[in-house]
Amino acid sequence: MTDMIAYERHGNIAVLRLQNPPVNALSHAVRSGLMACMDKAESDPEVRAVLLVGAGRAFIAGADIKEFGKPPLEPHLPDLCNRIEASPLLVVASLHGVSLGGGLEVALSAHYRIAQPGARVGLPEVHLGLIPGAGGTQRLPRLTGAEAAIEAITTGRHIPAKEAAALGIIDRVEEGDPQTVGLAYAGSLLVSGAERRPVSEMPAPDAIDWDATYTAVLKKGRGQLSPAQAVRAVQASTEQPFAEGLQTERQMFRDLMETDQRQGMIHAFFSERAVSNLPELKGIDPRRLEKIGVIGGGTMGAGIATAGLLSGMSVTLIEMTQDAADAARGRIAGNLAGALKRGKITAEAHDNLLNDHLDVAIHYDALRDADLVIEAVFEDMAVKKSVFGQLDAVCKPGAVLATNTSYLDINEIATSTSRPGDVIGLHFFSPAHVMKLLEVVVPEQTAADVVATGFALGKTLGKIAVRSGVCDGFIGNRIMRAYRMAADHMVLEGATPFEIDTALTDFGFAMGPFAVSDLAGLDIAWAMRKRLAATRDPRERVGRYPDKLCEAGHFGRKSGKGFYLYEADQRGSTPNPEVLDLIAAERADRDITPRSFTAEEIQRRYMAAMVNEAARIVGEGIARRPLDVDMVLLFGYGFPRYHGGPLKWADLQGLDTVLADIEGFAKEDDFFWQPAPLLQKLVAEGRNFDDLNKPG
Ligand code: 3HC
Ligand code: NAI
Repeated sequence: MTDMIAYERHGNIAVLRLQNPPVNALSHAVRSGLMACMDKAESDPEVRAVLLVGAGRAFIAGADIKEFGKPPLEPHLPDLCNRIEASPLLVVASLHGVSLGGGLEVALSAHYRIAQPGARVGLPEVHLGLIPGAGGTQRLPRLTGAEAAIEAITTGRHIPAKEAAALGIIDRVEEGDPQTVGLAYAGSLLVSGAERRPVSEMPAPDAIDWDATYTAVLKKGRGQLSPAQAVRAVQASTEQPFAEGLQTERQMFRDLMETDQRQGMIHAFFSERAVSNLPELKGIDPRRLEKIGVIGGGTMGAGIATAGLLSGMSVTLIEMTQDAADAARGRIAGNLAGALKRGKITAEAHDNLLNDHLDVAIHYDALRDADLVIEAVFEDMAVKKSVFGQLDAVCKPGAVLATNTSYLDINEIATSTSRPGDVIGLHFFSPAHVMKLLEVVVPEQTAADVVATGFALGKTLGKIAVRSGVCDGFIGNRIMRAYRMAADHMVLEGATPFEIDTALTDFGFAMGPFAVSDLAGLDIAWAMRKRLAATRDPRERVGRYPDKLCEAGHFGRKSGKGFYLYEADQRGSTPNPEVLDLIAAERADRDITPRSFTAEEIQRRYMAAMVNEAARIVGEGIARRPLDVDMVLLFGYGFPRYHGGPLKWADLQGLDTVLADIEGFAKEDDFFWQPAPLLQKLVAEGRNFDDLNKPG
């Protein structure tokens, strides 16, 4: 017996209480302990029922993800589930907190399930590149029918107790201590003479149109394998006897375990959690964060203010004129109306936030009490410095002074205050109340507790906060500039923007780079090109055709025309034919004979550019670890989660392959394709990026 399971006898009921903090993951020790405790209960002639319950904050969060990729040790989880279900005793599971993946599979092996009203259940294995592997695809459809099971398994969503009861997953919902209500329920079942009720013995669900469902799920997954596989596993539950269906599921689970997608998704899972875990912040308390100020109520300022309000903070927003202030309030009201429409807030909360928690003013005096102020005015150094000078004059001592600048040097911005230790970059992504990424940009003199406050704000706002050093574009925009450049070069050499976008959505990106430019507004990159023109190295190749589009007044989605046409169809699924004429003219000017690119060539060049710049950013210490870069791309730039991030992707390709690609491309353009020193070093040492993610 292990101390992972507390065994207690309460009358004729044996309680098996899992205690593997923090979330009772089903590690090898837990599985062994449960097996032994089932034996013990069954060998006690007084015992007639078993109650499974979890200590701490959850019933069971699933298999122990840390064991994935290592040789599996007996007892395997499917065997444990079968053993629980086959017990001659009446088995009851009492659920609280989450019961996910293997956790729900254990519960489904019990004969009856009771849950707290706040409990949530789910089979989220697809988010790890897997399918349920301990009977979930065979037992769940027997309770809910095939359609509901497929919906639950392919989305991996957490299902609230009430809904789970309506679906037939849970038998009873009751408030109270999980062990107390579980014991009472098990007792009442014994008294009423309830029979064992193994789910595996229930009739198989009715068939549905499997091929249509498979195709729809495959399409929705944008290249992700596991959700579509889950459809086939559920299909097996209707077409094969239970034991055979389990084998089918197990084989698919094992096959998926071997895939790069599984590795990418699990890298994402752990990195998402590690990203805010910085050694320099250990033991450092953040400053107080109740009232925030925002300067500028344009696209970003209004979005940031909305994010603050939705997270329960009081927000004071400063604009330049009363008209601009009214417009800013209007934008925030629009954002909140959207949140109301999507069911994120109630009508009462909506009115309350807008009327009682938001103050829009035109004088900086209103910021006297603010704990943290985020500046989101025009991207202009002189304007930013003037704003920070005024903040220095009015803000209370200890207030954090933050800028949302996209590219400007925050060290220089900090010089316009008498308190550079309080200055930091908080770089949000548009729309700021929706996008999950927050870059916490740390200039040279920033105090550690100000950095901690940046991360605390990220947590309050429900964002993934990533630390970045100061450089032009910080982590994300600097990398984006490099891969955009690679895409532009391919266009000059013969690919069309539309071929490039298609190749990259096929790779799994939410959108291709040209569709993204249309969305952001082509004028933004145009302004950046103009800003950098004076200092540009003459060897750098920069396409002129996007400037021509802008000169003609085409800024993308907002003007109705860019790389795509939006006048008739807001989705922009029609390429703008003028773009091809502009490109053809530029190729002729440059004396380029266009050549064709396959989708694979496009993907490799684009990814090589991304990885190379990312390696430079890690090498320079702008990002502390490769995983920081991976999370920036995942949460801010639509990078497909199942590839894990660009540097995880590079590891999975083999860094020598990526370096060889870059060296090959350098034969045509040795200015753009200079291999990052860190990439060369890792290849020479036979190491990979993940080696740099490990602490110490
Ligand atoms: N295995 C190992 N560790 C786990 C874990 C798991 N299944 N689930 C969570 N943890 C760890 C986290 O890594 C974190 O560790 P850290 O403190 O060292 O960073 C700690 O538990 C707490 O997790 P969170 O910070 O995420 O806490 P939250 O309260 O925000 O969320 C949760 C809790 C909802 C359980 C969330 O962690 C989660 O979604 N976990 C994954 C659940 C899952 O995917 N289960 C399926 C596993 S696959 C499976 O069961 C296969 C089977 O079908 C055979
Ligand atoms: P915007 O032009 O939509 O809004 C700027 C607002 O600031 C305007 O409403 C203007 O009236 C106000 N303003 C200007 N000077 C002011 C002052 N002295 N005091 C008070 N208000 C003042 O610009 P946007 O797009 O919101 O960008 C703001 C900042 O955020 C820029 O630094 C930009 O680089 C950055 N950013 C923009 C992103 C985007 O996608 N638009 C993404 C991330 C950062």
